[in-house]
Amino acid sequence: MIITTGGKTDETAIAHAKIIADKYNCSYIERKKQSIDTLFSQYQTSIAIVGRNKITIIPLSTKEHIYFHPNLSMIRAKRLLKGEKDTFIEAAKLAENMSILDCTMGLAADSIIASLITKQQGKVTSIEANPLLYMLVTEGLKIYQSNVVEINDAMRRIQTIHADHHDYLKELPDNSYDIVYFDPMFQESIESSSAIQKINNQTLKIDIKAETIEEAKRVAKQRIVLKDHWKSQRFKNLGFEQIKRKTSQVHYGYIDTGN
Ligand SMILES: C[S@@+](CC[C@H](N)C(=O)[O-])C[C@H]1O[C@@H](n2cnc3c(N)ncnc32)[C@H](O)[C@@H]1O
Repeated sequence: MIITTGGKTDETAIAHAKIIADKYNCSYIERKKQSIDTLFSQYQTSIAIVGRNKITIIPLSTKEHIYFHPNLSMIRAKRLLKGEKDTFIEAAKLAENMSILDCTMGLAADSIIASLITKQQGKVTSIEANPLLYMLVTEGLKIYQSNVVEINDAMRRIQTIHADHHDYLKELPDNSYDIVYFDPMFQESIESSSAIQKINNQTLKIDIKAETIEEAKRVAKQRIVLKDHWKSQRFKNLGFEQIKRKTSQVHYGYIDTGN
């Protein structure tokens, strides 16, 4: 991957782009008004465009522009702030001061909601295996400015990790987190979120292994939560209690660890 700036840029954005290139061990390329197509033909690699408050990745494989934008979580967060319930938070029994390990960060919608609930004294750690998504979301969570201060604070508190969740879980001590959460890509044909459809080509689709759930049982003090399609066999095959919802194709399941 190469890092560059937008066509119209300024010193702050250039300095920011250079820092990001350094951090992710990528080359910084001066944009010099070159088109994205020119950069693709010259470098034959994915491109990240860095602005002051915005980052975009353009994978070489799809050439589709992917932005970090907490679309989905904004609606859910605003509802939560009004005192309404959130199905994910209910399924995880997540509350202030608790810790959660999100093993499938994606665009971090669920992580942001979790962080909003666990607040300042809680802890949200989010793992993503895909390097482009990891970079996009890690940097997006730092710089994205919404007009709601609680949501900005929630984004800034999330710690992101670039790893395969199985490898990461294996290294964690017993009872490290209250909750361990999995939201794998659906095996069924529909995906509920258009944001996820957009990143579909980038996401890792290897299935969750039974050994990973065994590691999660050791790591989760209270509960492991799985989000999946209502028809998914994963609930049964991996030993999750499925919470049935008549009105949604997305279901949650849980394993209480009570460690
Ligand atoms: C359905 S998305 C998660 C969406 C996320 N809950 C959200 O709110 O935006 C699943 C994500 O998990 C990632 N993933 C899949 N297998 C993984 C693994 N073994 N380790 C870490 N990340 C993984 C995929 O690359 C993808 O980004």
